[in-house]
Amino acid sequence: MNRWADEKDRGRRKILHRGLFMEILEYVGFSEDDVLALRKMHEKVEPDFEEVVARFYQAHQSNRHTANVFEGPEQIKRLEKTLGQWLVELFTKDRDFAYCQRRWVIGEVHVGVGLKPKFMFGAMNIVRTELYDIVCKHGFAADWNSVEKALDIDLMIMVQSYWDYVTDVKLRTPLALASGMAHEIRNPLNSLVLNLNLLERGGNFTEVEREICSSLRQEIERIKTTMTEMIDFTRPIDLVCRSFQSSEMEKSLRYQFAEEMGAQHISMEFTHTIGEHEDGSVAIYGDFDRLKQALINLLQNAGHAVVDRTKDVGGEQEEGKIEINFAKTRRGSVINIKDNGPGMKGKDMLRMYELFYTTRAEGTGLGLPIVKQIIDSHEGSIQATSSRAGTEFVIHLPGEDK
Ligand code: HEM
Repeated sequence: MNRWADEKDRGRRKILHRGLFMEILEYVGFSEDDVLALRKMHEKVEPDFEEVVARFYQAHQSNRHTANVFEGPEQIKRLEKTLGQWLVELFTKDRDFAYCQRRWVIGEVHVGVGLKPKFMFGAMNIVRTELYDIVCKHGFAADWNSVEKALDIDLMIMVQSYWDYVTDVKLRTPLALASGMAHEIRNPLNSLVLNLNLLERGGNFTEVEREICSSLRQEIERIKTTMTEMIDFTRPIDLVCRSFQSSEMEKSLRYQFAEEMGAQHISMEFTHTIGEHEDGSVAIYGDFDRLKQALINLLQNAGHAVVDRTKDVGGEQEEGKIEINFAKTRRGSVINIKDNGPGMKGKDMLRMYELFYTTRAEGTGLGLPIVKQIIDSHEGSIQATSSRAGTEFVIHLPGEDK
């Protein structure tokens, strides 16, 4: 068998985050009408599923690139059954979280058996083509779009499962290295601080020597902070969730950033909305301190970006602006952070959550991975979009009842 994923990854179970599931449904634009359209077709089209299943495995068994994924006729028999059930669910089930989790598990099984992600697209195309003929044959051509959306949801979940696997593997080596190094470096650093203290206490230092000591101490503190962040990052997060008011978060962030942003002439505008309406504050469910940490990291990045824009336009004054919106939605809450910086390059967008990936000379490459880790641990999702007009991060957080 052609192994793409490592043997030890078989059975690896990660969960599909609720935020991601919400995002996929929204992106595809799947609605209750689509569920009804699919259910209406189901009874008529189901007898033809056998054909779809037969065509699917014929195609993959006779293709030399995929034939070696299969173990033998027993397995194919089993798979024919599961693909048949999959098709029935496609036409009959609600798109709730449980549905998406079942789909996620299918993606995980494919990763586990070493099936390469590129084959998913051709496979889905076989299903699509076969179903199109069947749906039209039974006079449901007008409802075809609902089938398309249903297939898109499944494909997106399966592809996302591969993406998460790759991100996970890419993080493993630097994480192991980081954690080992951080522990090794912390002890000698503590000893450096201790010796510096002894020197300062005992010596009759000149002004210049005292300045050198103070600068040494600052640099050591900087290394220690990075090391602590690295160690924190390698530890699993235990959340202490509660319902809090977004105004409480605004106050805390304003306090943190007032001086820094003020000095750089950057304005921070906070808004709080429920649906279309502005409100003074909205309720958010999550770990206040962790979410604050995530927002601090994002605001710091936004601050740097906004300053970069001023540099980009040759120092001409265009006011740096960061907008933060807290919104209550039906399924939880959304936090939106938008800056008017110069925007990020496509390649940086793809790599921004990688550990130690940074575009700033003084950056540690830890800020955004920490943000992602915090949002993931809330079972939320984070999406970024960027253009020459600025960058926007949108965080979805599930509500208390999940
Ligand atoms: C539209 C794309 C596909 C769908 C919807 C699909 C569906 C499924 C389902 C429902 C399962 C059972 C998962 C479970 O055990 O919970 C499965 C497993 C599997 N699929 Fe797919 N599949 C797709 C593409 C492919 C392709 C392209 C291949 C190979 C060329 C393949 C090979 C396998 C194998 C080897 C297993 C594991 C079977 C086992 O546990 O022994 N699948 N798939």
